[in-house]
Amino acid sequence: MSQQHHIDELFVRIWNDYLLITPSAEKVHALLAASDTAPKIVNDHIALRTLNFPHMGISVLSQHFEALGYTHGGDYDFGSKKLNAMHFEHPDGNHPKVFISELKVDELSDTAQTILHRISQSVTPELMSESNCLYSGKCWKLTYNDYQNLLAESEYAAWFAAWGFRANHFTVSVNHLETLTELVEVNSLLKQHGFVLNTSGGEIKGSQDVCLAQSSTMADKMPVVFNDQTVDIPSCFYEFAQRYPLPNGELYQGFVAASADKIFESTNVN
Ligand code: NI
Repeated sequence: MSQQHHIDELFVRIWNDYLLITPSAEKVHALLAASDTAPKIVNDHIALRTLNFPHMGISVLSQHFEALGYTHGGDYDFGSKKLNAMHFEHPDGNHPKVFISELKVDELSDTAQTILHRISQSVTPELMSESNCLYSGKCWKLTYNDYQNLLAESEYAAWFAAWGFRANHFTVSVNHLETLTELVEVNSLLKQHGFVLNTSGGEIKGSQDVCLAQSSTMADKMPVVFNDQTVDIPSCFYEFAQRYPLPNGELYQGFVAASADKIFESTNVN
């Protein structure tokens, strides 16, 4: 099989897993497909979350994309959320970029660190050596009380503990749409159809000035089976990105930390 085929297959598997816990994404996807003449909805990027333990950090997840021809494209630091991130891109610009963040566990409280260390002990090198680790969910036990303890200090930690390894969001490339050529038009269409957008930092994060504008839905709420009970909590959201050219005429391919910082809040409970 060609590399192109392997990449497409991997993203289909990650997408199908994402749809299982993000039913609104399927509805938005269908709405955009019906409202736009573009032959298909192209993804700008996907985002993955993890913890900064050496056996499960960014570089452990990224190796599966690097094996398919992806290369490191940028580094980002989200100090207030205690996160590092990197993005990876493929020389064939039609493949989605991959944005991977990791939580700096050592900056959290002892209570949170104890829970996250226990989670990390369930993550084996064997699991991480296969590309299906990218959509393997959680392979550890977690009580609802653990979840709430994490949530009290890091929404990111709580989300990862509850949902595990899977796409946190897919992102529609507005540049590849034909009828809806501006992000503001996409947002209007979504609101007309009752979808709720993340308004933290404004409905549109970024602008032409920083060569990237982004918006997103608020995450769906879906049931998570904890050890002791099943509770509906925020799952995943859908993002929309419009890129603008750099002075050299090429579309900017990086990310804007100030905007991504607000996008992270799409999985907040309120
Ligand atoms: Ni994103």
